This record gives sequence, C-alpha cells and structure tokens, in this order.
Amino acid sequence: MDSNELTPGELAHRSGVAISALHFYEREGLITSRRTSGNQRRYSRETLRRVAVIRISQRLGIPLAKVRQALGTLPTDRVPTSRDWARLSAGWRHDLDDRILHLQRLRDNLTDCIGCGCLSLRSCALFNPGDVLANQGPGAVRL
Ligand code: FES
Repeated sequence: MDSNELTPGELAHRSGVAISALHFYEREGLITSRRTSGNQRRYSRETLRRVAVIRISQRLGIPLAKVRQALGTLPTDRVPTSRDWARLSAGWRHDLDDRILHLQRLRDNLTDCIGCGCLSLRSCALFNPGDVLANQGPGAVRL
C-alpha cells in the first residue's frame, strides 16, 4: 500500500469519524477515494484535513452544499497549502456573521415573547419571523 494512503479504518481512527460517516461524505462528494484491485477504498493523507474541515463546518452549522462547494475550490493537482485552507474558512466567515446577527435578533425578540404566549401570526417575530405578507394587511393573503 502507498504510504501516503490510508485505509478506511485508519482514516476513521485518526479523524475520529465512523467509517459509515466517511462513506456518507464520499457519497456526498466531500471526499474521494481510489479503489484497490481488491475493490477496497484508499484515501490520500490529505483527506484527514478534509474530514477535519467537514467536522468543524458541521459544528458551525454550515450547510453540506456550502461545504461541498468550498471543498470544490481546493486544488486537485497538488496538496492544498495552509493558504488554501485559510481562504476556504475565510469564505465562511461572512455566513457566520449573518447567522450570528440573525440569532441576536431572535434573542432580542424572545424578550418580548417571554410571558406573552400569543404566538400571533401578525406580531410575533419568533412564531412568524420575517413575515413579508404582514405588510399586505390582515387575513389570508395566499390560499
Ligand atoms: S409570543 Fe407574543 S409576541 Fe411572541
């Protein structure tokens, strides 16, 4: 076996991710492997870092499609450098800032809702956040 490659068991052990999760990542196009003549998967060592990025992005709540898109920007003709990885995470910062702002607004609206309990479609920002139809008056706007 190429010393720059890992078996699924090795990758699972070193990354702390179950083999089933690795297969899922592969089905989702987040990581790739080659098959040996015996049809066994082999992962490049660089996959360890990809798996780490996937796990971190999941903890940050970044959608899988965005993770796939970001990983797709990494070079395929060479091992990604630390600069490549830094660029990738910088691209997510804006998304995180947006989500933090959104959560801060939800938190602020929560103060109004505590002890209220009306869950009004018209006025409760938590029950009906971002209600664009509210500006069109009361009652059903769409059927
Ligand atoms: S529950 Fe009444 S305003 Fe949200």
